[in-house]
Amino acid sequence: MNTDAQKILVVGGAGYIGSHVVKALRDAGKSPVVFDNMSSGLQENLLAGIPFIKGDTQFPEQLATAMEGVDSIIHLAALKAAGESMTAPEKYAENNISGTINLLNAAAAANVKYFVFSSSAAVYGEPQYLPLDEAHPTKPLNFYGYTKLAVENLLYWYSQLKDLRFSSLRYFNAAGYDVEGELNGLEQEPNNLLPIVMETIVGRRKKVEVFGTDYETRDGSCIRDYIHVSDLAEAHLRALDYLQRENQDLVVNLGTSKGLSVLEILQIAREVCGVDFDYTLGPRRVGDPAVVLAKAGLATELLGWKPKHSDAKTLLETTLRAYQKSKDS
Ligand SMILES: NC(=O)c1ccc[n+]([C@@H]2O[C@H](COP(=O)([O-])OP(=O)(O)OC[C@H]3O[C@@H](n4cnc5c(N)ncnc54)[C@H](O)[C@@H]3O)[C@@H](O)[C@H]2O)c1
Repeated sequence: MNTDAQKILVVGGAGYIGSHVVKALRDAGKSPVVFDNMSSGLQENLLAGIPFIKGDTQFPEQLATAMEGVDSIIHLAALKAAGESMTAPEKYAENNISGTINLLNAAAAANVKYFVFSSSAAVYGEPQYLPLDEAHPTKPLNFYGYTKLAVENLLYWYSQLKDLRFSSLRYFNAAGYDVEGELNGLEQEPNNLLPIVMETIVGRRKKVEVFGTDYETRDGSCIRDYIHVSDLAEAHLRALDYLQRENQDLVVNLGTSKGLSVLEILQIAREVCGVDFDYTLGPRRVGDPAVVLAKAGLATELLGWKPKHSDAKTLLETTLRAYQKSKDS
């Protein structure tokens, strides 16, 4: 049987991480099909020659049609603004939880065997110890994180009750752009530090705001675990291989175990980009832990995956290249 001919439905494949996953699948000779409602997906993220279905997980009939010939699903479709999830939880419940229930039901009805899910470090909440391993208690601090945890719980039950093995990938802070420079679709209204720094450098924002400089960290600013999106994409391939090979569920962190502080990122951005930019030092934001760091060894042990591009310089250089290309076009 030629497994590579079996379709892999990439739900949310026109988004930032999804488009990198589709590229990695294509380059590995697999057969991805993108399913996306284009709510935040970009036309320019749709790679030439890859089938695209414009559809929404809110509509079961669209999902049923899309399941034709599908063997595996990679599910990245979600709303992801943690702040907004606290003011509009119903929107997040419908899109992230109900949408995934529809997708799981369509998958089970079509006898799809493997399901890879974009989970998040947000499932852990305030770290009780560091680095965060997969056994750390899950107590999300925001409704977005809760939607990820709710889906993980659903996956556990669908695996028990249906013949559907899942892999839940708990991403830490996704950053950077395609190391080969093919994908440069910029995230709209980004909430993450690196895009905000780049928007400041290219003149779309006036300054970067640093929230908190009195944390108990090496320079007083928050520390986060940044993982390059090309490394994330490779992990999805390995997670699918694992499911096919082991026929066992998997819950793993995808991070580096190494953190970068906000002020370190600003310093490296200045060096890599060769320009100075304005920033202000402000008070802490409510709900921001001082340090979030993954214990990343389980993904290495089970998947043989190791981040290759997640050093600060590559993260910033690839982000800068994407912003420069968009400025020039
Ligand atoms: N970016 C990060 O740092 C990060 C960290 C942890 C987890 N995640 C998760 O990774 C996934 C991808 O994130 P991203 O950064 O690429 O975001 P993104 O917004 O760029 O991608 C999400 C994609 O899903 C599509 N989508 C949303 N709702 C849909 C629906 N109901 N039906 C069909 N398509 C829909 C959007 O149009 C978009 O293309 C999300 O599930 C997110 O929660 C992201």
